Amino acid sequence: MKKIIVANWKMNPATLQSAKRLFDSIKKATKNLKNVEVVICPPFVYLSNVKCPYTAEPSGLRQMSNVKLGSQDCFWENSLKNRGAFTGEISALMLKNLGCQYVILGHSERRQYINETDEMISKKVEAVLKNDLRAILCIGETKKERETGQTKKVLKTQLKKCLKKIIGLPARFLANLIVVYEPVWAISPNGPCSVAEALEGILFIKKNIVQIFGQKIGKKIPIIYGGSINSQNAYEFLKEKEINGVLVGAASLNPDEFISIANQA
Ligand code: PGA
Repeated sequence: MKKIIVANWKMNPATLQSAKRLFDSIKKATKNLKNVEVVICPPFVYLSNVKCPYTAEPSGLRQMSNVKLGSQDCFWENSLKNRGAFTGEISALMLKNLGCQYVILGHSERRQYINETDEMISKKVEAVLKNDLRAILCIGETKKERETGQTKKVLKTQLKKCLKKIIGLPARFLANLIVVYEPVWAISPNGPCSVAEALEGILFIKKNIVQIFGQKIGKKIPIIYGGSINSQNAYEFLKEKEINGVLVGAASLNPDEFISIANQA
């Protein structure tokens, strides 16, 4: 399985000029990497300005380069529903028409600051998959939940609730699901967790995914790790066969750091 390296820029950088510069340096240095899928997720406002060559295909715009474009969220309704009367929201269809192929969903910062619930996330996962985009679903326990021995219970519940609306979808849609194990306490500047802890979470998620979707589909769903990954620690995680990639926040804003991580995959 190709390692998936995702750059989550969060609410950065502050200007379009810096966003373009960052995007172009990463694209230039990683576009020819083999066996790695590099996904860059800038804020919505920069998505149509960063250059990613794409072709029009019946299922949507497909990027030609090895570097793919992703967004950090989307709304669950289509723009066509209710004449798009969802002020301030961005649909999966809009993202697809722009050449986006990936959407990060359920990030803990959105759960924490925007009060996103598993139910909302489940609707978003469904909308993203039904639009032939890849959903990068984040799950993970908080420090308190870990300290009180609830990690497995939390992961199981988040998976069950966030995937509720896609159970029974045809395999071709489910093939576009990616799950990130991102312990909230391991996000920078606090983390990372140890490789053993990451592996334990990832194997538990894999087991549950197989229970939910069955062996044939479940085994093919990539599970990646997120939380304080940088050029110094990336290899420790990436060398593990069961860790199918990494989601990188702070270090993805430094092109040298992020390029080094992608190279180590
Ligand atoms: P971090 O962020 O790499 O800065 O810890 C990861 C994330 O929250 O996506």
